[in-house]
Amino acid sequence: MARLDVIEMFHGIDFPGHLHTQDSLQLALKFPFQDTDILIVSYPKSGTTWMQEVISLILSRGDPHLSQTVPNWARAPWLEQHYCAAVLGASSTTPRVITTHLPHHLLGPALQGSKAKVIYVSRNPKDVAVSFYHFHKMANFLPDPGSFSEFLNQFLEGTLNYGSWFDHVKGWTGQLATMKNLLHIPYEEMSLDLHGAIKKVSSFLQCSLVEDEVNNCVKHCSFSSMKDNKMVNYTLIEEKIMDHSKGTFMRKGKVGDWTNHFTEEQNQYFESVFKSKMQGCTLEFVWEERDKEKTHG
Ligand code: A3P
Repeated sequence: MARLDVIEMFHGIDFPGHLHTQDSLQLALKFPFQDTDILIVSYPKSGTTWMQEVISLILSRGDPHLSQTVPNWARAPWLEQHYCAAVLGASSTTPRVITTHLPHHLLGPALQGSKAKVIYVSRNPKDVAVSFYHFHKMANFLPDPGSFSEFLNQFLEGTLNYGSWFDHVKGWTGQLATMKNLLHIPYEEMSLDLHGAIKKVSSFLQCSLVEDEVNNCVKHCSFSSMKDNKMVNYTLIEEKIMDHSKGTFMRKGKVGDWTNHFTEEQNQYFESVFKSKMQGCTLEFVWEERDKEKTHG
């Protein structure tokens, strides 16, 4: 299944045809969740792989064996991708860990009434845009990103593959008040205090760990450990699909890399679009204050 140049438009959103088919997307919307399922939700480049690793390690109480022997997509498959049914069908492990990039307005109905535990990972959209731009350069199943400026405009318009960051974040975080089984963890929180974030996630999953186990999780899901782990750094993916000469999946792993890419003008424009699109969103993001200081001096 190469289909590198195929784009599947589904409910008005483009998805890479290399990983998705109309059938796989349709099946995701009708997925019969089990109450024991753990669902990781994110817009791409928000720390999805990091959360997959955090959860794998928590469930194995800090033992890295699984994370170092089984690729992340086989441990926590993407619900909407074509191989998901086969991966889930071949395993009898409980709890199942599943990943998705689908927006809430599409996946919400399938989760209705389910007690599945949902973890939403968000990230400063400026850093998401930078990370996604670099990823487009190496991922041959995504369109050529053009210049950063062109790419940023598409990001702000919500016309990139996987749709609008704004709709995604508003859709999922908008459920926080009513969905008891939903936890929101920003990338920046994991970056600032990985130990604390792991404890928070483990307690949400009702899998409390002793201090040594938490420390082992921290060690094995640090950026440097993950960068060297071929089960998560995507070097297992052949060159024609991900061109590793054009970049690395585990690129920088930093908060605030946007400052190295945005011009003053791009930042001002981004801020104005953010303000208008996020109107009515009461959520305070941890990175907002810091960005304001950088924007207004
Ligand atoms: P950068 O491109 O900014 O480095 P996703 O898994 O959602 O596609 O997100 C990928 C981004 O998360 C990349 O960001 C990657 O480096 C970062 N990432 C993955 N694991 C990380 C870790 N352990 N610590 C910090 N960042 C991590």
